[in-house]
Amino acid sequence: MNAPTSHAFDALMQIVRERKTSRAFEPDFVVPSEHFDMILEAARHAPSGANAQPWHYIVVTDPAVKATIRDYFVAEQRRRAKLKMKFPTPNYQHVATAPGLIVVVADFRYIRAFPVLNDGSDLDRMYRENAERILLQSVAASTMSAHLAATALGYGVWWITAIGQEEAQRALKPVLGVPDDLAVIDIMCFGPPLQAPYKRWKKSLDEIRSFERFDMANYRTPAQIDEWIKTTRHKVMYRDESNVD
Ligand SMILES: Cc1cc2nc3c(=O)[nH]c(=O)nc-3n(C[C@H](O)[C@H](O)[C@H](O)COP(=O)(O)O)c2cc1C
Repeated sequence: MNAPTSHAFDALMQIVRERKTSRAFEPDFVVPSEHFDMILEAARHAPSGANAQPWHYIVVTDPAVKATIRDYFVAEQRRRAKLKMKFPTPNYQHVATAPGLIVVVADFRYIRAFPVLNDGSDLDRMYRENAERILLQSVAASTMSAHLAATALGYGVWWITAIGQEEAQRALKPVLGVPDDLAVIDIMCFGPPLQAPYKRWKKSLDEIRSFERFDMANYRTPAQIDEWIKTTRHKVMYRDESNVD
């Protein structure tokens, strides 16, 4: 195997660093159809458990469908506020005007393709829980490739998962013609950002890495996590990295 060149690594890292969430895009921009192909070509090559490739992507260009999806998110945003979930929810109005909108569909039936017993026993439940995680990681790997490809094409990207709930599934599947036994797992919006995207806080390398054994200096207790949620979460979600210590 050829050693990876630093040029290839630098080019990759530029895309990886450059990928930043944007939540509003130039509404009049039209995504060339080949860009959808290029983005999904990247998704297609992702690794997956048992090479099951349990994903499907629906490219949505119809403004009426985009508006319906937007309406769902806005309603969900209000509902979360009413439930006093205290999660700092963004403004979902711009989903309707995202030039690129791709719905990510997961096929959870492929859980059967992973190591499970399929006999309803407790042991089976344990294996199934892990199999579900394998499936979620697989779809995320593919989706991430799509996000990086869109970044490489110069777009801002928006990964939206506030759609996994059963009710949302029931509402959106008929609109998108998704069969009942598949799941709408998330939505990818992209386009030229309306405002310059900012870099959000990322943990340092030392904070995410240990050698040989887990470094307890990086262990957080539940109380510390609660404190982080209270004092820091909103800053890391909606402000640039300079606002976080
Ligand atoms: C699995 C996953 C789920 C996410 N869900 C949402 C979402 O429902 N709504 C939203 O506005 N952003 C969502 N995001 C975007 C994150 O808020 C964003 O990635 C994070 O704040 C870090 O910012 P960055 O993408 O600019 O690095 C999600 C990202 C990931 C990877």
